Amino acid sequence: MVDKVDFMCSIDSDIVKIKVLSVFGTRPEGIKMAPILKRLDSDPRFISKVCVTSQHKEMLVQVLNIFNIIPDYDLNIMKPNQDLYDITSLVLLGMRDLYRTIKPDVILVHGDTTTTMAASISAFYMNIPIGHVEAGLRTGTLTAPFPEEANRVIVDRLARFHFCPTETSIKNLLKENIPEKYISLTGNTVIDALLMVKEMVRNKEPDEWQEQYQQALTAIKDPQQKIVLITAHRRENFGKNFLNICEGISLLANRFPDVSFIYPAHLNPNVRKPVTTILANHPNIFIIDPLDYAPFVYLMNRSYMIITDSGGIQEEAPSLGKPVLVMREATERPEALLGKNAILVGVEPQTIFETSSRILLDPELYKKMSKKNNPYGDGKASERIIQTLYNFFISKSDR
Ligand code: UD1
Ligand code: UDP
Repeated sequence: MVDKVDFMCSIDSDIVKIKVLSVFGTRPEGIKMAPILKRLDSDPRFISKVCVTSQHKEMLVQVLNIFNIIPDYDLNIMKPNQDLYDITSLVLLGMRDLYRTIKPDVILVHGDTTTTMAASISAFYMNIPIGHVEAGLRTGTLTAPFPEEANRVIVDRLARFHFCPTETSIKNLLKENIPEKYISLTGNTVIDALLMVKEMVRNKEPDEWQEQYQQALTAIKDPQQKIVLITAHRRENFGKNFLNICEGISLLANRFPDVSFIYPAHLNPNVRKPVTTILANHPNIFIIDPLDYAPFVYLMNRSYMIITDSGGIQEEAPSLGKPVLVMREATERPEALLGKNAILVGVEPQTIFETSSRILLDPELYKKMSKKNNPYGDGKASERIIQTLYNFFISKSDR
């Protein structure tokens, strides 16, 4: 696993070089860490190394490819239908061995996954400072989302650097008595990533991603076709809630036969089974495989509205001016609700159906919800994160 030991410069040497190890494992972490990694790579003040846990496999590789990230270390932990104990124990022990060998000055983790939580505990045990990217998000309920809310609370308790996307996330941390001097307002790196990829796809045609769009390509290419983009994957929704979500979408597809509903389905069998069973036989529902980030950004931009339980998509949709319905009971991202770009609809089929129908039928409501809004960032979050780290380590080395 630990295949290289070339991480030797440090702030103790004549030339200040800060050794940063970034650790992540899933698709959204990869997308949101990519802009930081790109900057670290081109900044001579840092030595940057990347460890992926591979909590996700194919879905992580999709992100690494698009951003051209070559990990230095790979814990390679993913198993089909893995549970939280599998991920936690493998990351905790895997990272122990890696930290012992390469001794970073600081680690960077992102958000709220089990990779993030276990890599942070492992670093804490070795007294390695932790930088938490996307710190301070809270619903206030430990089980919503599960286990992510607990993961973020644990990581924020352990972290030395809290890179907060919004004022709300700063307030959440201050309420938990996290010292103010450990907190910085950076914006969310998802906007950095989105802007990078929006530029990449600006002059592209959907045919470019023919293999990925599969049977949905014709609808995507037809400018007259209204598209509703759907994603859902949350653990707390497995089982009954997922059946409800599928029923709500099924009602919608029957009511709006002229609209195309495109669902790039997560590879988790707990998602794919109900989705492919319940939604398969509708002529206007297209279930396709998870998309690379570039064709996904193109499709978000091409869509009329988005229905999702995703965290990242709640942040991206307002920036693209797309109304977003959030199929959850609570959200840690209240800014889009306040900006009227998002509505929290829960997971009851009738509520999903009625609220989506209103947006599809009422042009005034649609207009309000599709106003472009950037509550989550300005595309400079990674720059601020790196500067904060540099300022800290340089002042330490001057002492
Ligand atoms: C994880 C995160 C969740 C995040 C989501 C992003 C935890 C507990 N959950 O949930 O916070 O929102 O990623 O998508 O950290 N699988 C594959 N190939 C892949 C990825 C997943 O086959 O590339 C299948 C495997 O069977 C795997 C299962 O999906 O066991 C579940 O993956 P896991 O990372 O445990 O959960 P997610 O629901 O993806
Ligand atoms: N995404 C993607 N391809 C897809 C679906 C989503 O690239 O087929 C991107 C999406 O734009 C967002 C991120 O993946 O940046 C969100 O990931 P996910 O919903 O799996 O996780 P969450 O954000 O809920 O943790």
